[in-house]
Amino acid sequence: MKKEILSYLPEQCQWREHLHWYESISSTNDLAKKMANEGAPHGTVLIAGHQTGGRGRLGRSFSSPAGMGVYLSVILRPECGPEKLMHLTCACAVAMCNAVENALAFRPSVKWINDLVYEKKKLGGILTELSASSEKTDYAIVGIGINCRQTQQDFPAEIRDIATSSEMITGKPCDLAFLCASMICALWQMDQTLLCKKEEMMNLYRKDCITLGQPIKFLQDTHVQYGTAVDIDADGALIVSDQNGILRTVSSGEVSVRGMYGYI
Ligand code: BTN
Repeated sequence: MKKEILSYLPEQCQWREHLHWYESISSTNDLAKKMANEGAPHGTVLIAGHQTGGRGRLGRSFSSPAGMGVYLSVILRPECGPEKLMHLTCACAVAMCNAVENALAFRPSVKWINDLVYEKKKLGGILTELSASSEKTDYAIVGIGINCRQTQQDFPAEIRDIATSSEMITGKPCDLAFLCASMICALWQMDQTLLCKKEEMMNLYRKDCITLGQPIKFLQDTHVQYGTAVDIDADGALIVSDQNGILRTVSSGEVSVRGMYGYI
């Protein structure tokens, strides 16, 4: 698998040199963190064929059955303070829409802030984790999982109605190695302009984000609140007009956003 992935990556991509493939591990994000703490360099890529403890945002699990999806994490060491990286998840989301479009010939959308979706169902997700002091970023881990080969029955019962896979969408077999290489390449390109093209990236994110303009409910400190998503600010926070027409800024850390009538 590693050889195949490398065969699709351009020679100029320096991340080729630090690419690790694992048949089965708990979570590529967890192992990436351990490796980053032990000094692994910027651009270290970890890919797993299977995760036994795949994680998502807000402490949720991410179903990662063997050979059914792409599960990967990258260690980034951007030379800036953490306040300059607030848009990282959004930038990765746009990169992943580009990667899927390039490899699979359809473009997913993004449900704010980190879900890749297609026709109102979840195709994959992004989990960004940061280790930083107030002025310096030690590392960021960007973890992405994309469902590829599942049929509806392959998903755990609790997500069966809201999950999809690339094969369910296209009806064609998915080349996991090619998709994986396309994702690595898109992340590598994103990394080159992450700090200098923030505004452009956020404009692209707004275009891909289907949450904008939607009536939503969001859970904040166990309170359900209602509103309409009207914009996304420069750092990726959602601007919501509440029931009284008052604008509120909702940041991704603590809220779960749902459409009024379901997952989207
Ligand atoms: C989400 O759905 O909230 C995000 C899902 C992120 C899943 C990926 S799979 C590779 C990496 N390792 C993990 O444990 N999680 C991310």
